[in-house]
Amino acid sequence: MTVLVTGGAGFIGSHTIVELQLAGHQVVVVDNLCNSQAESLKRVQQITGQAVAFYQADICDKAALTRIFGEHQILQVIHFAGLKAVGESSQIPLSYYQNNIAGTLTLLEVMAAHGVFDLVFSSSATVYSPEAKVPLTESSPLAAINPYGRTKLMLEQVLADLAASDNRWRIWLLRYFNPIGAHPSGLIGEDPNGIPNNLVPYVARVAIGRLPELPVFGDDYPTPDGTGVRDYIHVVDLARGHLKAMENMGSGCQVVNLGTGQGYSVMDVVKAYREVSGAEINVAIKPRRAGDLATCYADPAKAAEYIGWRAEFDLRTMVEDSWRWTEQNPAGYGS
Ligand code: NAD
Ligand code: UFG
Repeated sequence: MTVLVTGGAGFIGSHTIVELQLAGHQVVVVDNLCNSQAESLKRVQQITGQAVAFYQADICDKAALTRIFGEHQILQVIHFAGLKAVGESSQIPLSYYQNNIAGTLTLLEVMAAHGVFDLVFSSSATVYSPEAKVPLTESSPLAAINPYGRTKLMLEQVLADLAASDNRWRIWLLRYFNPIGAHPSGLIGEDPNGIPNNLVPYVARVAIGRLPELPVFGDDYPTPDGTGVRDYIHVVDLARGHLKAMENMGSGCQVVNLGTGQGYSVMDVVKAYREVSGAEINVAIKPRRAGDLATCYADPAKAAEYIGWRAEFDLRTMVEDSWRWTEQNPAGYGS
């Protein structure tokens, strides 16, 4: 089957393409490379031995999407393309609404015009209300607290309305928890531009000597060691969740959490990274980061029941794979 992957050159997209190709699917990628490099797709080909049909195009460009749908017999779409930096989304909200919302609306219009109604959408645990109790289930209360989160929440609502209006649409909303790690080959991984916002890429850069120390945002949370607790999930597990969703489209618009159900603190991650890398990893305790929660982890039971998916890899494996990628590519894809 031919699958269109938007944002396929990015972190989660590139790992998902590997799993798609290994399962025998043909992959077409649309990515404008605003937060990635085409090198990731070359590395994907190195892993799988299979070619990717790559178009450097913007999902807001209706003519380009129309051409791509005209050139391939696309049956399903996995939609990763979007901007994702929480802090930046408050500084340039219009770019976020334009890219994430207008881009998705354009994609949906072109899909419908070509009779393609199967969609797997990247949502996020960020759509859950800060007041919601852990573990978070799919029916926990929702509330977004920044423009990035609002784009995800609004798009979930758009997609639910669309599926309710026309029963040809089959949509999975996948709410990811905290994807980390890298492909075990060490050929593809996370390569953020500039100073990383997220914990693991930051720790990796301290371990490899590109940054001097890790700022730990708060050590006075009501958690076992006072630092924030998150549900880290191996990006390969996450990628496989997309295949499982595609294979179990069901009907209408449905939602599942993709998480492990297990929370780890910032210092748990630092400790694992120190053990695996042998690096010292200096930390500096800083004030809490605005908008951060003490604890966030998933109830992953629904994914097991509805799409037959469970995360397999533990924190140690996530960190080992992150470190292999970092050591083999100290400057990311720019190495
Ligand atoms: P990423 O930035 O590595 O990948 C996104 C890709 O989309 C990039 O390659 C970028 O160049 C491309 N892109 C962005 N806007 C585009 C546009 N208008 N047209 C074409 N391509 C465009 O991010 P990722 O971590 O792989 O995230 C993938 C998706 O998962 C995003 O929608 C993100 O919001 C969501 N998500 C990510 C996380 C996370 O922590 N990584 C958590 C929850 C949800
Ligand atoms: N942290 C630090 N220092 C850093 C970076 C992070 O101490 O330099 C801490 C944070 O305070 C938090 C934990 O590490 O306690 C994880 O932070 P991340 O930035 O890695 O991840 P978040 O949970 O804040 O958010 C991520 C994505 C969001 C997504 C969310 C849920 O960035 O887009 O996971 O999926 F919505």
